[in-house]
Amino acid sequence: MRAVAVLASGEGTNLQALIDAARDGRIAARFAGVFSDRRGARALERARDAGIPAQAFAPKAFADRAAFDAALFGAVAASGADLVVCAGYMRLLDAAALAPWQGRIVNIHPSLLPAYKGLHTHARALDDGAAVHGASVHFVTGELDGGPVIAQAAVPVLPGDDAAALAARVRGREHPLLVAVVGLLCEGRAVLDERGIQFDGAPLDTPLQLGATDRFP
Ligand code: GRF
Repeated sequence: MRAVAVLASGEGTNLQALIDAARDGRIAARFAGVFSDRRGARALERARDAGIPAQAFAPKAFADRAAFDAALFGAVAASGADLVVCAGYMRLLDAAALAPWQGRIVNIHPSLLPAYKGLHTHARALDDGAAVHGASVHFVTGELDGGPVIAQAAVPVLPGDDAAALAARVRGREHPLLVAVVGLLCEGRAVLDERGIQFDGAPLDTPLQLGATDRFP
């Protein structure tokens, strides 16, 4: 069982998907803790409802990002976590705090990276007339939404979509994508080393694509 810490700022629907998957035995994970930068985050409630220790840190209580992240990652380490999943965590991360977690921290981002790093990805895809959009799970590095991508799930952009409709379609694929990737990480099938991502022991040249089965072969 891998001990997973989840960082979340908002609703926590991705967190909930992980909780459900672990409860059903679909991923070999137990939760060391859920951590947030927002005291009111629904994600914290979801964690407590599932019996997972949940902790919020207020950015205003710290002098700067480095101090905040030092405290946050100190608590993550103290929880016994050995894998960190950023699931709707909306703050940039300090490079020094990240360094010890390289290869053990992933993020889900609502776009087919490297397209649309940053915010408002759905509106930007619509503005560009993109035909496909989606979500990616990547290892976190110091570069915003820039680390090596493990896997993606694509959705079509449909006539008449607005940003909310497209976001909802993407969100529906985020959950199985995140569960499938955390499953790979828990099983040790996807690892990051100095050569890049290794999947089942071979270099992963292009991100895995999640198909209709919601599983990777
Ligand atoms: C997701 O779309 C995630 O990709 C983005 O923020 C959203 C979080 O949703 N970064 P939730 O809190 O998991 O419901």
